[in-house]
Amino acid sequence: MDFNGFRRSIRCYKNIPVPYEELLKLVNIARFAPTASNSQGVSYIIVKDKKILEKSTEIIVKWMEDNIELHWSFSRHINNYRKNGIDSILRDAPNIILATAQKDFKNGRENSISALSYVELFAPTLGIGSCWAGLFEFCAFSNYVPLLDLFNISKDKVITGALMVGYPKYKYKRLVDRNKLDVTCIG
Ligand SMILES: Cc1cc2nc3c(=O)[nH]c(=O)nc-3n(C[C@H](O)[C@H](O)[C@H](O)COP(=O)(O)O)c2cc1C
Repeated sequence: MDFNGFRRSIRCYKNIPVPYEELLKLVNIARFAPTASNSQGVSYIIVKDKKILEKSTEIIVKWMEDNIELHWSFSRHINNYRKNGIDSILRDAPNIILATAQKDFKNGRENSISALSYVELFAPTLGIGSCWAGLFEFCAFSNYVPLLDLFNISKDKVITGALMVGYPKYKYKRLVDRNKLDVTCIG
């Protein structure tokens, strides 16, 4: 079976930026995703400059150091960064796509998950890989001001999702294992 074109979380990227036009194609697909009552309400920030991502990793590491009790993995990510210079948070991704919504919009997160899942599925058709930036989200959802300031998030808005994107460094021969199908048929 040929797995090229299949989606996998990509954690190793080529050190080349994705052209803005391609990033725009990804975001344009996102807005066709289904949303609750077609409420939509998600806007996007495309980060083109890798230096901004490097800065955000630095900010997140500082946040982890100040909130070490929040998750068992934080000490590992801090060590990776401080001792070995490895970015296991944003994986040296050249680009990131952020979803944002109004602070008082109740469907912001779920609509963003729907939208960014479309991006994830579409990206491989353009030869682009992606991975949810869950640790970035963890920090952003706590409304850590230095991170929000870095991306110019206004006071009435929140970050509702984050996806690293870039050209995959490696080709994968198989998908990641899944549990067996758990399904019940009624009627
Ligand atoms: C909400 C969410 C957050 C995630 N956060 C991270 C993350 O911070 N770092 C990471 O390497 N992978 C992250 N992942 C990717 C998962 O680890 C991945 O989807 C899972 O291991 C299955 O692998 P696959 O996507 O290649 O099929 C996240 C996935 C989701 C849905």
